[in-house]
Amino acid sequence: MSGEGSITRFGVIGTGRITRRLVADIQSTDGAEVSAIASRTSQRAQWYADQYGIAAAVEGYESLLVRDDVDAVYIALPPSMHAEWAIAAAQAGKHVLCEKPLTVATSQSLAVHAACKANSVRLLDATAWLHHERTDAFRGWLQEGRFGKLGHITAAVSFFHPFQSGEHRLDPELGGGCLLDLGWYVCSLARFVAGSLPNRMVAGRIVRQGVAQRITAMLWFDDDVTATLSCGYDTSTRKWFEVAGSDASLVCDDFTRPWHDRPARCWIHDAAGAVEQLTFEGNQERRMIARFIGDEPLDPFHQQALDTQHMIDAIQESVELAHHEPSAPPPREC
Ligand SMILES: NC(=O)c1ccc[n+]([C@@H]2O[C@H](COP(=O)([O-])OP(=O)(O)OC[C@H]3O[C@@H](n4cnc5c(N)ncnc54)[C@H](OP(=O)(O)O)[C@@H]3O)[C@@H](O)[C@H]2O)c1
Repeated sequence: MSGEGSITRFGVIGTGRITRRLVADIQSTDGAEVSAIASRTSQRAQWYADQYGIAAAVEGYESLLVRDDVDAVYIALPPSMHAEWAIAAAQAGKHVLCEKPLTVATSQSLAVHAACKANSVRLLDATAWLHHERTDAFRGWLQEGRFGKLGHITAAVSFFHPFQSGEHRLDPELGGGCLLDLGWYVCSLARFVAGSLPNRMVAGRIVRQGVAQRITAMLWFDDDVTATLSCGYDTSTRKWFEVAGSDASLVCDDFTRPWHDRPARCWIHDAAGAVEQLTFEGNQERRMIARFIGDEPLDPFHQQALDTQHMIDAIQESVELAHHEPSAPPPREC
């Protein structure tokens, strides 16, 4: 993919928290630049453009899609808006880098894929951890059976945030709640490790302020591989997993994004108590952007995203089924 010469020119849709980080990552990736940013209001677009040295500030997302100086869009909107704008971008002939979760339902994700395919544009969900050099090492170790027979996967992603009103994470209409937001990570991790979809699951939730603030799920995969997953907004920052095999366990406490100012890390614990710590350099976001603007087929990432979305749908169904109030207990005899 390339636009002007060998440079891919990005148009950014949305000016929220993650935009700040990704704009800087796009601007510092070889072969990529940000040529325009769109917001619902011209003032906010202009403020962002001035802050980040972006040539064009655009009012309204539609106006961005018709620009000749935009080859690809980066969509950083609340989850329920991803499908609409990803499809509109594809139809306008723009390549699509879309924030996670790809959409709010598998049916929508399939529609996004179909639109990108029909318009011959590239699509990638911005699940950056999948693009770290360390993740290549995880993949290699799993393929070579370094941990023995795979048994159990545990993953937890959370942050503690008493949200202000107006936060999209508290609005069910905008795809709020921790399942789509943080469940995306734990499901993607389990799917990545197991290499397939689960065949059974059970899940529960804690609801506050109208959305799921905590989700716990147990999953069964083929070959007796199981997983316990947790995500939520009411415990402190966690981004860890353990993959337990018959010979050793892989432990990682920063898989979604390395801790600030520390290299990406993980540990391999063997059955005799020996521990090997490994660290990795590299920037997962820049590697993801480079992959997106390159020519490498992205099908494995598409399948990973569709399976992750499917797991989220299934957890949502399980949560709704499980969420029934027990009938009143019988009176106790004194
Ligand atoms: N990859 C990651 O590490 C990561 C981290 C955080 C978030 N995310 C994902 O990125 C997406 C955006 O998250 P964020 O934390 O950046 O969100 P945010 O700060 O709330 O920003 C969302 C932006 O969407 C636009 N928007 C349009 N309609 C909106 C509405 N009705 N309510 C609120 N905003 C609306 C707004 O931009 P304008 O007003 O300028 O139009 C707003 O700034 C989510 O899908 C989230 O899961 C990813």
